[in-house]
Amino acid sequence: MNPAVQRPPAELRYADELAALAASDRDPRPPGWRLSMPAVRRFLLGDGDAPAKIVCAPSLIERAMVGLASSRALLLIGEPGTAKSLLSELLAAAICGQSTLTVQGSAATTEDQIRYGWNYALLLNEGPSARALVPSPLMRAMREGRIARFEEITRCPPEVQDALLSLLSERLLAVPELGETVFAAPGFNLIATANTRDRGVNEMSAALKRRFSFETVFPIADLDQELALVQAEVSRLLAQDGVPRAPAADLLEVLVTTFRELRNGVDGQGQAGERLSSVVSTAEAVAVAHAVTLRGHYLRGDAGQAADIVELLAGAAAKDNADDLKKIRRYIEQRAAKRPGEAWKAFHAARHLLPP
Ligand SMILES: Nc1ncnc2c1ncn2[C@@H]1O[C@H](COP(=O)(O)OP(=O)(O)OP(=O)(O)O)[C@@H](O)[C@H]1O
Ligand SMILES: [Mg+2]
Repeated sequence: MNPAVQRPPAELRYADELAALAASDRDPRPPGWRLSMPAVRRFLLGDGDAPAKIVCAPSLIERAMVGLASSRALLLIGEPGTAKSLLSELLAAAICGQSTLTVQGSAATTEDQIRYGWNYALLLNEGPSARALVPSPLMRAMREGRIARFEEITRCPPEVQDALLSLLSERLLAVPELGETVFAAPGFNLIATANTRDRGVNEMSAALKRRFSFETVFPIADLDQELALVQAEVSRLLAQDGVPRAPAADLLEVLVTTFRELRNGVDGQGQAGERLSSVVSTAEAVAVAHAVTLRGHYLRGDAGQAADIVELLAGAAAKDNADDLKKIRRYIEQRAAKRPGEAWKAFHAARHLLPP
């Protein structure tokens, strides 16, 4: 693995583990798959020494795998930061050994990015030729029998999304300029993700919807599981940075609890509170916990303090929403004050650090 890469894709991060799983895998594999379904599940959810890479219901993984082995594509929908992209990356890496055949959906996505484009210098010089053709990630996935990924599909204009129709139903892509047709090899399929806060899936054409199985990805329901995940992710990030520190356990609990309660609008005892309108997902909790430790390490030589959480909360959770900032202030003033323990006390005491 190249240490000069900020974030290697899953197939490189876990290359050894994937190779070991493939070597000991005796179960039947769907056509074109590198691993059997039980091995893919083990890779994602861990067992024995290998920790889980994702927290979700095993039945979600099973339905997703069966869907991908059938003739339907998979659409993962959910709130921001619920690990839809991570799940699609891990599934692609485990099933076909490559997670980078990805189209990033946006308002500027064009049909070329879904089908194919041209190298215009070659095209002008020698006319349409196989050499001048620039395949899209999807075309490459079809040729090689791999899983393609389509991130934030609902951010593309619906008419561009519909370029997927024949590709997904007939499993072929015609290149009239060359008089050729690319047929999908066994193993080809598509995993798309969509964010419920963006333009809705209801704008997708009915024809396209029919070619997907929909799966909703939910935020982590259990506090202990979320805490363990944030701890593991932060340790991994700090190890990557070469920072020999870990956030204190009670500090992490303050952080994860605060994020959960601001997200859900209820505390552990079921007491109703206020809910932020900005995104306070597990992903944000990981980012803030990481930043808190970096702050402590690089600015003071400690592992981060409660005051750092307060300082970072506004930028991470309230963004530019003044209403959310007020809610955070009330949360710290009213709820944090009542909690036992030094970390909560320090968190409450640092409330003046919130921007006015
Ligand atoms: N259930 C979970 N299991 C594992 N990691 C999680 C989970 N929920 C959140 N995370 C953390 O959140 C990070 C980001 O998630 P990811 O980018 O995949 O979210 P997303 O749902 O695609 O968000 P968006 O809708 O904004 O694209 C992950 O890398 C991981 O650290
Ligand atoms: Mg995503």
